[in-house]
Amino acid sequence: MIEQKEYARRRKQLMRIVGDEAICIVPAAPERVRNNDSHYPYRQDSDFHYLTGFGEPEAVLALIPGREHGEQILFCRERDPEREAWDGARAGAEGAVADYGMDDAFPIGDIDDILPGMIEGRTRVYYHFGRDVEFDTKLIGWVNRAREAVRRGVRAPHEFVALGHVLHDLRLYKTRSELRVMRRAAKIAADAHARAMRTVCAGMNEHEIEAELLHAFRKQGAVPSYEPIVAGGANGCVLHYRANNAPLKDGDLLLIDAGAEVDCYASDITRTFPINGKFSAAQRALYDIVLAAQRAAIAEVRPGRPFIAYHDAAVRVITAGLIKLGLLKGSVQKNIEEGAYRRFYMHKTGHWLGLDVHDVGDYRIDGEYRELEPGMVVTVEPGIYIAPDAKGVDAKWRGIGIRIEDDVVVTRGEPEILTSSVPNDPDEIEALMAEARA
Ligand code: GLY
Ligand code: MN
Ligand code: MN
Repeated sequence: MIEQKEYARRRKQLMRIVGDEAICIVPAAPERVRNNDSHYPYRQDSDFHYLTGFGEPEAVLALIPGREHGEQILFCRERDPEREAWDGARAGAEGAVADYGMDDAFPIGDIDDILPGMIEGRTRVYYHFGRDVEFDTKLIGWVNRAREAVRRGVRAPHEFVALGHVLHDLRLYKTRSELRVMRRAAKIAADAHARAMRTVCAGMNEHEIEAELLHAFRKQGAVPSYEPIVAGGANGCVLHYRANNAPLKDGDLLLIDAGAEVDCYASDITRTFPINGKFSAAQRALYDIVLAAQRAAIAEVRPGRPFIAYHDAAVRVITAGLIKLGLLKGSVQKNIEEGAYRRFYMHKTGHWLGLDVHDVGDYRIDGEYRELEPGMVVTVEPGIYIAPDAKGVDAKWRGIGIRIEDDVVVTRGEPEILTSSVPNDPDEIEALMAEARA
């Protein structure tokens, strides 16, 4: 759990950056209807969560640095015993102040009357324009109301700034307590992958393995951080495979890309292993390349290295390995220059990880890849995918899709691998699977 004082620290930090002439307006995620009166599972907006830890919908945070009558204001749902009997407890305005460290709080129904007055006198509005058209329209209405005050000699906003620009840079550097939560999300996902390795056998269906993952997540109170990919055989070559409904065949590999979310923080793991517990020679040859690529990449996850360095390292190892196996021809350099390796490795080697699976934060600054710094967390996920109909490729390679993905923290010393409790070494995978079958 992240403590309230940390959320307060984040709000203060943001207010310090935006300055006394600004107002930041951050809405909670809207509830989304699935059909009729059924909703999708509610997931708080990551930015709103980062600044409040407040889990309810229908809320808006206003940060107004230097405001005499309170800088941190929450608009939220009122207490309502009848509604709470149906939908569960609400914090209410009193709870927002007492339990969430707000200076003041108001019913969300009063926002049209109150917020324009708070915007008056501020020259800059920080907000996520274009994320929620309905809210954009409301905001324009409030700003226009505030502009009416210009006649009374009050200043009105004339600058609109993308909130993400400042906030997402803060989110990029994880604190000790964030890393604690991320370690737990990683451990739960790692345990789920190990459970899948122990359980799988030929004749099962992909959805049965998905059920094992979900069981492991929910048993520990986590939810999936994205829809799990459970892809047997050639389905592993479909990068965003989500059907998860094919039978698992003896002799095929199983690629699982599944992560857990704890207190809104994500983990993101991929493991690829043989359904019958033993890699074939061809599978092992390709697997060894991907693993070597991942190890070379992780060695580049260090302070001062440009973000792209670990991708480049993985590409070099994969390209050299594919040439050695005869899947690519010519020199490593030429294959990389011409992008020939992309036929078998078509995605990047990773992304920021945090509250979002593909977490926020710029990858480049002024056009140049930014340098890694302690506290940043990335995934390292090289792969090789030989399509089942790949032309000019020996049949023994076709339909093999392999990815190995771990979550790695940049530290002052060695990279910290959050997800190492589920093996990615092929001998260790085979040993774990053999033990479960003994
Ligand atoms: N699971 C999404 C990704 O690996 O990027
Ligand atoms: Mn990933
Ligand atoms: Mn993934």
